[in-house]
Amino acid sequence: MSVQKVVENVYAVGVKDPKRLLFDQLMPLEEGTSYNSYLIKGSEKIALIDTVYPPFEESIEEKLKNLHIDHIDYIIANHGEQDHSGALPGLLKKYPKAKIVTNQKCKEITMGFLPLKDDDYIVVEDGDSISLGNKTLKFMLMPWVHWPDTMFTFLKEDGILFTTDFFGAHATNFDLFWEDDPRLIPLAKAYYAEIMQPFARIFKKYISQVEELNPQMIASSHGPIYKKPSFIIDLYKKWTSENKKNQVIIVAVSMYGSTNLMVDYLTNILTEKGISVKYFDAVHFNATSLASELIDSMGLIIATPTVLTGPHPAVVMPIFLTNVLKPTLKYIALIGSYSWGTLVDKQVMNMLNNLKDVQILPPVLVKGTPKEADKLALDGLGEEIIAIHNK
Ligand code: FEO
Repeated sequence: MSVQKVVENVYAVGVKDPKRLLFDQLMPLEEGTSYNSYLIKGSEKIALIDTVYPPFEESIEEKLKNLHIDHIDYIIANHGEQDHSGALPGLLKKYPKAKIVTNQKCKEITMGFLPLKDDDYIVVEDGDSISLGNKTLKFMLMPWVHWPDTMFTFLKEDGILFTTDFFGAHATNFDLFWEDDPRLIPLAKAYYAEIMQPFARIFKKYISQVEELNPQMIASSHGPIYKKPSFIIDLYKKWTSENKKNQVIIVAVSMYGSTNLMVDYLTNILTEKGISVKYFDAVHFNATSLASELIDSMGLIIATPTVLTGPHPAVVMPIFLTNVLKPTLKYIALIGSYSWGTLVDKQVMNMLNNLKDVQILPPVLVKGTPKEADKLALDGLGEEIIAIHNK
């Protein structure tokens, strides 16, 4: 099994998993993903940065064998999720002298999932370093990218920053290194949208810390190594920015067409004023696309008929996803038709309780099919939306 050299005495020993179709049993993967791991041979000690998803344990062991590795001193666990930590027990069995180097939170998490014991670990704090002889690893605790245990490891002498999931991409059709080819952008954006978006508000600080460090390369635990770090840093600056496109998302479902009439009417009002409307059919929506569009959009309009006083079940999943992703939207609106009674506005807004800094526009709920008076209400909603976009 071939092993690729990153720089002198640093090797990529992770694996690609192009056949994986879903991540977290939720997000469709266009070309699978990779679980990146790196072996660093110092003049005195040997360290492995992260491991791989357990089904690929044999692959990493084969690569280490090809490098003639007869022992490992440190296995750095930058993050406890099992796509990176799952092979720790097997590798400790194979290399019994090795110690897992990680922070206290990651130790607790990995001990919760895996058969590991207290003295398998060396616990590090923010700013600690370990020497491998002629190479030094410095640890930076960066909680919530996207778990509380996440940390970065900086290989000082070679200027390589290992950032666990941060800056990652579910991508396998790439060479080891990536410079600034835009083909990676949609994959990195989808990854950011699904995994990192809920924590965007803390990332400005992290991005500044990375820029101050001025790494020569960024090696995330999914996707290629960025040989030109500014490529991915600039994208993260854009995606975490409060500046949005002149765009709104409409997530809609209609049973007999009345709610659809409202969607069409409101869409015309907005598009006539130059606002781009991204329409998602709630029954067949793609979670990755919705997550990506939430990064760029100023607002979200939910269009649902009332079913037994609440929203149609098809819009519940996109509403739930929006709530957990905590996008930095400016406003949310609700429109829809009902027949004999509705509590849809209360129920939908309760489902969006994570979105605390978002303006909630007055709902337009229509009894039966929309009539002239209802169109006036939609005109009013359209004016409010246009005013927010023009601000
Ligand atoms: Fe790639 Fe959070 O694991």
